[in-house]
Amino acid sequence: MHIIMAMDIKEANLVFHDETSREYDKKWAIRFDADMAEFVLSKFELGLRGPFPRDVRIMEIGCGTGYAMLNLGLAGVLDEAWGCDISQGMLDVCRDNAKDLGIKVHLQQADAEHLPYEDECFDLVIGHAVLHHLPDLDASFREIQRVLKAGGRCVVAGEPTVVGHRLARVAKAIASFAIKCYARLGGRLGKKRITLRRYDASGSPEDHELQELEFMVDIHNFRPRQLCDMARRAGFSMVRFESEELISSFIGWMIRTVEGSVSEENISDRWRWGAYNTYKRVRRWDQKLYPYLPRGWFYNLIVYLEK
Ligand SMILES: C[S@@+](CC[C@H](N)C(=O)[O-])C[C@H]1O[C@@H](n2cnc3c(N)ncnc32)[C@H](O)[C@@H]1O
Repeated sequence: MHIIMAMDIKEANLVFHDETSREYDKKWAIRFDADMAEFVLSKFELGLRGPFPRDVRIMEIGCGTGYAMLNLGLAGVLDEAWGCDISQGMLDVCRDNAKDLGIKVHLQQADAEHLPYEDECFDLVIGHAVLHHLPDLDASFREIQRVLKAGGRCVVAGEPTVVGHRLARVAKAIASFAIKCYARLGGRLGKKRITLRRYDASGSPEDHELQELEFMVDIHNFRPRQLCDMARRAGFSMVRFESEELISSFIGWMIRTVEGSVSEENISDRWRWGAYNTYKRVRRWDQKLYPYLPRGWFYNLIVYLEK
């Protein structure tokens, strides 16, 4: 506990992601297959407002276990990529995933505020769900700008908006309340009576420390225009944003809350399949609504920067 209180955000990120790296893909339902590859590609093409470029040098900041770059590899838009992350544990899993998939990656442990690459050496920098962990975003944007070639581009997807985050909290509260009531009434899930996971003093000290770290590492939710202004200050000549997932994010957070509240044996493959397909169907409604609603209401922000 005292050790955690003395940690700064970067150290907390390193320890938290190192400790949870082997469970990360399972926790976030990350897969490496054609369906997920198409899904990931669609996010980056939305940010690019066009097709993903081929035969260019690509680097990912905060690549984690490879969700974005390896799925883009599976989608057939890259054969080789550079990636960095503050957590060596995440990079180790990424290297194993890349080896299984036969995708060539060059991984390096690094802080996004001090990238270990020469000036102007990449055509495209990508990121997914990483900016909201970075304490000094100005410094990170300056580093991305430095390593991009003239005319180079950067797309970072999966960053939470302020409104999206508020809606997610409501979704979590409703799902948590509902599943507890249902469990008390003797409800069943996965053909078994629901057993709730315990998050009280009976958990191990390590579990409590990890929960505390998880609260510590998520440091930003973004107002899209403020984030764009920050990128402009770093010197990018063209900055814009898109967003995605409104109702699907609400449903997605409810599903994740239920999955995090009940025991493993209540979560059957049938449930996982049904939950994922429901989320995907609702995501299509979001895509239809997108042109008519303020982009800041959607949960996932995608920023596009050009040097
Ligand atoms: C939510 S995970 C996302 C991982 C991956 N991009 C994905 O979408 O699955 C955030 C990642 O950012 C990394 N990270 C956090 N702070 C960082 C920093 N200062 N520099 C580089 N990476 C960092 C973490 O270690 C973690 O792997």
